[in-house]
Amino acid sequence: MTQPNGRMQDKVVLVTGAGSVGPGWGNGRAIAVRMVEEGAKVMALDQDLQRLDETLRLGRQAQGRHQGQIEVASCNVTQTPAIQAAVEATLQRFGRIDVLVNNVGGSAAGGPVEMSEEVWHAQIDHNLTSVFLMCKHVLPLMLAQGSGVVVNMASTSGIRWTGSAQVAYAATKAAVIQMGRVMAVQYAKQGIRVNTVVPGQLHTPMVEARLAKQRTGGDVQALLAQRQSRIPLPFMGDGQDTANAVLFLASDEARFITGTEIIVDGGMTVRCA
Ligand SMILES: NC(=O)c1ccc[n+]([C@@H]2O[C@H](COP(=O)([O-])OP(=O)(O)OC[C@H]3O[C@@H](n4cnc5c(N)ncnc54)[C@H](O)[C@@H]3O)[C@@H](O)[C@H]2O)c1
Repeated sequence: MTQPNGRMQDKVVLVTGAGSVGPGWGNGRAIAVRMVEEGAKVMALDQDLQRLDETLRLGRQAQGRHQGQIEVASCNVTQTPAIQAAVEATLQRFGRIDVLVNNVGGSAAGGPVEMSEEVWHAQIDHNLTSVFLMCKHVLPLMLAQGSGVVVNMASTSGIRWTGSAQVAYAATKAAVIQMGRVMAVQYAKQGIRVNTVVPGQLHTPMVEARLAKQRTGGDVQALLAQRQSRIPLPFMGDGQDTANAVLFLASDEARFITGTEIIVDGGMTVRCA
């Protein structure tokens, strides 16, 4: 693991979905804490305040020698008034927003026949409208500052068949990737970079909390074995791997990188069989 070197010092970072569906390192929690380690001032948002308790505890532990800070706030990122309040709270506390990490998302099983219209619309709200609304309310600040970075969270399901039908998730994550590319070109001249991290099949708390029930009748080991069998590297990635990719794209080390994606999947999507 790379030692923290303070590369996010003086940056204010807003992370959505920074709790975790279960104990351990969900992507949002890992991103928030990694940013604090690197000296960022982090506002960690989640619609479920209880899930932020552990993020806050780990973030406070990580404050260390690079002057990182963490605050948490409740915010449902599909609701405009809640987003406006969270953005305002971030400005009150830290004075600006340098980095927006749109991490909220999650899958629902099924193709168009099995999936209800209600679930389809809920998936669009959860995975795509959330990104649109956060950008709508944060980009004006970045434009006024003349700088900013957006990192969106997609999934390999947005670029490949990944083992099961989850049509709304696939469609919305593909949309997140393309939305990022378009925004990158639109705002490049104003000093704003936009990129996307595309995680593959990770071992995050979501596996135990939700996916094993959906896919393997609750058998976590069977699901992990199934996921590992698709991955060329001989181990599973986790939230820390996502966080390191987000950190790089958010940092000044990526100053010439915009409108693109980093795939974090152990080689899964380039494998043919
Ligand atoms: N875990 C994986 O294997 C994996 C793989 C590919 C992509 N991803 C993507 O990574 C992101 C995070 O996934 P995860 O599995 O780490 O998450 P998770 O389910 O562990 O945590 C997500 C958090 O978001 C919060 N949340 C949900 N809806 C919200 C809303 N409307 N407003 C604010 N907060 C909300 C939840 O309370 C939860 O704490 C998602 O976009 C997901 O699609 C995950």
